Amino acid sequence: MSIEEQIRLDVELNEAEDKVFSQIDWENCPKHLAIIMDGNGRWAKAQGKPRTFGHKKGVDSIHAIVELCGKIPVDYVTFYAFSTENWKRTESEVSMLMGLFSSSLNKYIDELSAQGVRINVIGDLTKMSAKIQQEFAQASERTKDNKKICMNLALNYSGRADIARVTKEIATEVQSGTLDVNSVTEELITEKLYTGFMPEPELMIRTSGENRLSNFMLWENAYSEFYFTDVHWPDFREIHLFESILEFQNRHRKFGGL
Ligand code: FPP
Repeated sequence: MSIEEQIRLDVELNEAEDKVFSQIDWENCPKHLAIIMDGNGRWAKAQGKPRTFGHKKGVDSIHAIVELCGKIPVDYVTFYAFSTENWKRTESEVSMLMGLFSSSLNKYIDELSAQGVRINVIGDLTKMSAKIQQEFAQASERTKDNKKICMNLALNYSGRADIARVTKEIATEVQSGTLDVNSVTEELITEKLYTGFMPEPELMIRTSGENRLSNFMLWENAYSEFYFTDVHWPDFREIHLFESILEFQNRHRKFGGL
């Protein structure tokens, strides 16, 4: 059975989805997707609702995309959920988001775990409440052997801060004599990043019409294909993911060569 036929057994496709789905070469699906979920606030505002309503609906999109990724040949999906810059938002929005991280994790942990999803956090959780740290640590521990898909949540994450953290760690090792300066290589840096155990993302998706990287996986996205869509994150569904994968496959990745 081909991979496409196998996926068809698991994923129910409507006519529009099928049209895009059947054009994809499933043998060459990106293994790691990085997603900047943008536009929750604008989506909510457009319907006369508070921004927080958009964040709540954004969780439904994460749910749909993780479920789909578990059924197609994607091994890692990384969501940018809270950047180190997001602390600048109003106290009430930050506090709502923290509550949402915690309540969504509690709501979905059993289901995700049963589906074979590994939950992993990238970012500096030490700045978050003890409760959140404990909940995510427990979820990571509980799901660490799950193999279907690894869902990474970037929480209090900054690409520059991660590179600075690794640089400091390497400098300390060199200073103490446990690491030879000639052993400092790109591979070593890659290995020490939060994402060290995963392949680099081949496809970086940003929703809601903004064409920026916003400090997201700066090192890891060096050779990623960037896909920008005007769709706001709460509206992002299976068809949009298929469209992004198809567009990815229609690009010619050269990695600096010809
Ligand atoms: C960007 O939209 C969205 C965020 C900064 C928050 C994303 C968080 C979630 C969807 C909840 C995630 C939950 C878990 C469990 C990880 P925006 O607020 O910047 O929208 P705007 O640009 O329209 O203002």
